[in-house]
Amino acid sequence: MGAPNIYDRMIAVTANTQVLLASRPTGWVTEDNFRIVETELRSPEGGELIVKNRFLSLDPYMRGRMNDGKSYAKGAELGEVMIGGTVGEVIESRNGRFKVGDLVVGPLGWQTYAVTDGLMLSKVENASIPLSAYLGVVGMPGATAWTGLIEICQPRAGETVVVSAASGAVGSIVGQLAKLQGCRAVGIAGGKAKCDYVVQELGFDACVDYKSSSFYDDLKAAVPRGIDCYFENVGGPVMDTVFRLLNPFSRVALCGLISDYNSTDPYGVKMIRSLLFNRVKLQGFIVSDRMDLYAKGRAQLIEWVAAGKIKYRESVAQGLRSAPKAFIGMLKGENFGKQVVKLD
Ligand SMILES: NC(=O)c1ccc[n+]([C@@H]2O[C@H](COP(=O)([O-])OP(=O)(O)OC[C@H]3O[C@@H](n4cnc5c(N)ncnc54)[C@H](OP(=O)(O)O)[C@@H]3O)[C@@H](O)[C@H]2O)c1
Repeated sequence: MGAPNIYDRMIAVTANTQVLLASRPTGWVTEDNFRIVETELRSPEGGELIVKNRFLSLDPYMRGRMNDGKSYAKGAELGEVMIGGTVGEVIESRNGRFKVGDLVVGPLGWQTYAVTDGLMLSKVENASIPLSAYLGVVGMPGATAWTGLIEICQPRAGETVVVSAASGAVGSIVGQLAKLQGCRAVGIAGGKAKCDYVVQELGFDACVDYKSSSFYDDLKAAVPRGIDCYFENVGGPVMDTVFRLLNPFSRVALCGLISDYNSTDPYGVKMIRSLLFNRVKLQGFIVSDRMDLYAKGRAQLIEWVAAGKIKYRESVAQGLRSAPKAFIGMLKGENFGKQVVKLD
């Protein structure tokens, strides 16, 4: 018996597993906020294609999309497939841009297959890089690190760059980019194992455990010349602690506030005076606003990852049904590196 042809695959694929938003969380997300269903996969119409998703990305921003309120992007509707980035393979195509076998990245959601018009898809450029990396280091998180550090912080050689959630998808790239710019890179992460990894594997100059009672003193010791650039991923007390050590004319790229995403009572920042006294420039940013930089940063990151100059680590959950649990775990810091779900 030979390899299955396209027709065999079309017949075989009828069931699509999907994770729907069942209810909106109040405070912490629970698995009850999701519903897993099997639906029938419809045939593609003219201009459409079917993608078999191989990996699903789990990202902190998805917590915001579960809410109803005003944000920078529209939330998911109740009963709809959860929003999310995927990387997968085209298994059937009635679209001239894509052929069967193409590997594609796009926002196809928490499901094993998707019928799509392909407008939001891009092709995987360099097949020598593992497919899942297109959801992390050479995907949206990598482009986020690039945008916040290179374009907003604009660090100069010899300056000190600090990044929180330093072992994670975005933070791990920020510190390595800072080193490539000739800076002192200092990470902040939760626990010894993550801090050891950040220094020993990723090559940061230092990493400080924010869960330690000596966090402020440890950070102060790690930045003997103060902080010139701060890449903020977490917010809360970590941000206030860093603000105490900012240098005059330092820059803060406000990327994320994960410590606040499940809170019904937003954290009140205390050290605002440091921004005034030190004439600090702080800019919030959303990577999707800067698609022009996305292309540039991504091309450079692909080159550096392929050359082994930038390293990354992943937490891989197995199977779509594990996605809700893995997502909640990531929001609590149980991931170690980029959180993805392997779908087959
Ligand atoms: N602005 C944008 O366009 C953009 C794009 C992508 C990501 N982001 C933001 O960037 C941040 C990092 O995202 P990521 O994808 O790289 O996730 P990640 O770092 O891979 O995973 C999240 C990490 O956040 C840390 N964390 C969770 N709760 C915390 C708390 N209360 N205090 C301190 N740290 C906590 C945990 O690390 P520890 O174990 O070290 O605590 C956890 O592993 C998030 O805030 C996300 O929303 C923004």
